[in-house]
Amino acid sequence: MRAYRTPMLRSILLASVALVLAAPAAAARPGVPAKPWLNRKLSADARATALVAAMTQDEKLQLVRTWFPPFATGKPGAPTDMIPSAGQMVGIPRLGVPTLRESDASLGVANQVEQRKGDVATALPAGLATSASFDPQLAYEGGAMIGSEARAKRFNVLLAGGVNLTRDPWGGRNFEYLGEDPLLAGVIDGEHIRGVQSNHIISTIKHYALNSQETGRMIADAKMVWPALHESDLLAFKIAIEKGKPGSVMCAYNLVNGDHACESHELLTTILRGDWGYKGFVMSDWGAVHSTVKAANSGLDQDSGAELDKAIYFGTPLKEALAKGEVSKARLDEMAKRVLAGIIETGLYDDPAPATAQPIDYAAHALVAQKAAEEGIVLLRNEGGLLPLAATAKTIVLIGGHADVGVLSGGGSSQVRSVGGVPIEIPLKGGPAAGFARTTWHSSSPLKAIQALMPGATVTYFDGSDPAAAAAAAKAADVAIVFATQWRTEAEDIETLTLPNHQDALIDAVAAANPKTAVVLESGGAVLMPWLQKVPAVLAVWYPGQRGGEAIANILFGKVNPSGHLPLTFPAAEAQAPRATPVNLAAIKADDAASNAGSAGGTTPVFPITYQEGANAGYRWYAAKGEKPLFPFGYGLSYTHFAYANLKVTGGATLNISFDVTNSGDRTGADVPQVYVAADGKDQVARLAAFQRVTLKPGETRHVTLTAEKRVLSSWDATTRGWHLAGGRYHVALSHAAGDAALTADATLTDQHFRP
Ligand code: BGC
Repeated sequence: MRAYRTPMLRSILLASVALVLAAPAAAARPGVPAKPWLNRKLSADARATALVAAMTQDEKLQLVRTWFPPFATGKPGAPTDMIPSAGQMVGIPRLGVPTLRESDASLGVANQVEQRKGDVATALPAGLATSASFDPQLAYEGGAMIGSEARAKRFNVLLAGGVNLTRDPWGGRNFEYLGEDPLLAGVIDGEHIRGVQSNHIISTIKHYALNSQETGRMIADAKMVWPALHESDLLAFKIAIEKGKPGSVMCAYNLVNGDHACESHELLTTILRGDWGYKGFVMSDWGAVHSTVKAANSGLDQDSGAELDKAIYFGTPLKEALAKGEVSKARLDEMAKRVLAGIIETGLYDDPAPATAQPIDYAAHALVAQKAAEEGIVLLRNEGGLLPLAATAKTIVLIGGHADVGVLSGGGSSQVRSVGGVPIEIPLKGGPAAGFARTTWHSSSPLKAIQALMPGATVTYFDGSDPAAAAAAAKAADVAIVFATQWRTEAEDIETLTLPNHQDALIDAVAAANPKTAVVLESGGAVLMPWLQKVPAVLAVWYPGQRGGEAIANILFGKVNPSGHLPLTFPAAEAQAPRATPVNLAAIKADDAASNAGSAGGTTPVFPITYQEGANAGYRWYAAKGEKPLFPFGYGLSYTHFAYANLKVTGGATLNISFDVTNSGDRTGADVPQVYVAADGKDQVARLAAFQRVTLKPGETRHVTLTAEKRVLSSWDATTRGWHLAGGRYHVALSHAAGDAALTADATLTDQHFRP
């Protein structure tokens, strides 16, 4: 394993393998296949090595950069067959290497600012919704669905798999990601990626690493001691890579501990290749490359959307660096080989994407999006059992959020132009996202969906711009439902966790007028709820995707029992949440605003962002500080009740947990029992070590057996470059949410060291 981490020795080994594999091809000896890369019995690595050996240097160079269609079109040497999208790598037909056509991303095949006129796709809900389901199978189905659409549209690389942990509750992209816990985020991301790649296309995992905020995203130097990083964000990446085996890892915009992520030898080589043995390729984020020699020698394999960088670093400058020996030829071979390994390992080489667009069953895919929305909606409050709303409600008034026409979506590169169209699309007046994001609603009207479920009721809509009129309408109705919205986008963090546009006052006015008021919260993360005690029912529906209206209606009226659980903490006040604020914030924001997508080009120097919470991201921070949040991680109500009994834990080499879950209510529902474990000792805070989504009929009991994820219980040992699980007593809490302990038990684990 150590030798693997020694670049020189590895290069020599690779070169020898290349020679062995290349020799038969050149000599074409009888009985030896002339093109070993076609031999499916060989490993992806061996086939890729053979391909590289058959390539010219220019062909290899072709593989290590991609073109950015919006900027490259018409440029000298640019391909003439680009699909307007994120990127294209030119293939090598004589060797069967496919052209790579790249599209965003995790929530569906994106089409930002409608660069492909009229091209729609199925929009899943926000990543947070999928994560809130705690359902790995759902994540797989979502990934498989969007992967199939990508392939049918001739894309063969999806820039999916965003797994940056929520550290900063103001983070503009939190909605795309999977929350604050490494185990949950890693498992969900891995399954999503596995689903995408089941279509024999490549998925990325991104943004490697510590890209937890948008403010100054190109110049933020995220600081954290490496062991803490291994125990949190890197653990999420590692779990997802193990499960999903993504063909590519996308390195991030920001710096990590002093180096740009895309030129961090520690991240790209020591950890990714060395500690983890990752064999696919590292592609940069778009505009995240800052050098040729340092980036190439640190482990970057492919410069994405190269026209976005200050120079085409992996073009002529790389050729010159090779000539001067600043980047070795063996390193170029390795870069090309890794790109090819990703192409071969995912099945893309042997089963290339179709040459022409294929039909897509959008009706079937809409059901996948709807299921994801329904499983991800979190019932936060239901005083007096207001929900599900009674079938006897005769007059229902909906207020705000454009609930008459659709549901809000998050902005940025993940933006899908969804099937059914875009009823509202508001260009931004300025700011770093203005060039590529618009505030967009999917055409999935809660009003229509509710009316369809309640044909005998009168359902009306008020836009909420006049709180007095809305309150008067609420007073006259049986039930009032306020749709509150908070928009987030890539390239900008939100200014405040308070709902914008005086929505708190609107909710106050409506709740004062009608005690039967429910709030449906469409947000990309946590918001403050000063009105909470006045409102009996609250649903967090995130950005619920292109079937969000139907999903919301089904939950409100009890056709579907809510089962989502928060993948991140909702703080009670802004001051509760950890936040690293740079001293020169105003200059950074000005620099962001003046640049495209928060790209480099400004004058503000690199600034440090110290994540003071370290490995204690999210709920662990609140526990360590003794803070009680508004709603904890893992929280979520149901229209039924679940009881736990017979908790048994056994220790030794692994921690095994078993218990019974009973649905003690009168409806079928899904529960998510969560196992939190803390080492004995007063400073030890508990971490989610296992979970399971369980669907039960009324009165049904299920016996559940789980094994704790050992890495969650361990600390990273920088000396052995591995995990150390300290022997001793561990406290186990079987819980409905972080901080809750329905049942507890202790176990003793043996002291152990193990590989990452
Ligand atoms: C984003 C990536 C995205 C890429 C290509 C970047 O701005 O950070 O997530 O995949 O653009 O669109």
